[in-house]
Amino acid sequence: MRIVPLTTLPDWRAHLPRVEEIFLTSSAVQNFTDDAHRARFKARWLGRYLDHFPGSFFVALDQTSLLPPPETSLIPPSETSSLPPPERGRVGWGSTESPRRKSARDPEKWEPVFGQDHAQKENVIGYLAGCLDDPRGNPLFADLAVYAVFGPLCDTYPAHLHIYVPAEARSRGVGAALIEAFAVQCKDAKLPGLHLVTDKAARNVRFYEQNGFAVLATTLSHGTPVVFMGRGII
Ligand SMILES: CC(C)(COP(=O)(O)OP(=O)(O)OC[C@H]1O[C@@H](n2cnc3c(N)ncnc32)[C@H](O)[C@@H]1OP(=O)(O)O)[C@@H](O)C(=O)NCCC(=O)NCCS
Repeated sequence: MRIVPLTTLPDWRAHLPRVEEIFLTSSAVQNFTDDAHRARFKARWLGRYLDHFPGSFFVALDQTSLLPPPETSLIPPSETSSLPPPERGRVGWGSTESPRRKSARDPEKWEPVFGQDHAQKENVIGYLAGCLDDPRGNPLFADLAVYAVFGPLCDTYPAHLHIYVPAEARSRGVGAALIEAFAVQCKDAKLPGLHLVTDKAARNVRFYEQNGFAVLATTLSHGTPVVFMGRGII
């Protein structure tokens, strides 16, 4: 797994559908009145970060094995006659032995052989949408009423983030690694701290505490208790 700013990838636009899928499946809000409602929600919590702060949009990438393409060539028998007999088990990309050697042991079951670049592809398994600006000073965030209460804390914790890891990739340290990547960027920008706002009762409060954040204030947002969690940059 590696963490990079999305736009440093040469083919970064090709990853956008997967980013959007992660957002829509991992978000706490799953029911929308119509397509326009979903579009507004997406623009608010994903789109404006991609559009305005692409340098702070980090993705976690994992290698994914691919099935061989049908046109892949086979090993000629003449190259394999001196190899030992087959062992139990199938050839797999996680195998410690090369597919070429294993498949060569049983000529009846030869499997396609191809290079590393064709065998694997990087997939997005989580993202962090970050912003180094203090949200109070940026009209883009004028719609976030919670800063009327949380505003003063932004002096010490100006940067903020939203993070999403899909269910199948959770509890493997992906979220923690994304936060560390953004924290390094905040440190390089000489900021004193970063924050996020989340529901007081959300399960992710514990995740943020495990990653150095502390609950510093609470208010109501549309009748729901929400917390401001801050982490200083050392
Ligand atoms: C919160 C989240 C980003 C954590 O990502 P992750 O890659 O699983 O994080 P890590 O592996 O570094 O840490 C695992 C911790 O995350 C927390 N966590 C695990 N699943 C979670 C879930 N479904 N919802 C919230 N937190 C969760 C737990 O505290 C877990 O620690 P534990 O294994 O000791 O119980 C991820 O669970 C997620 O995207 N949740 C849904 C969306 C969300 O809440 N985003 C934050 C919006 S403010």
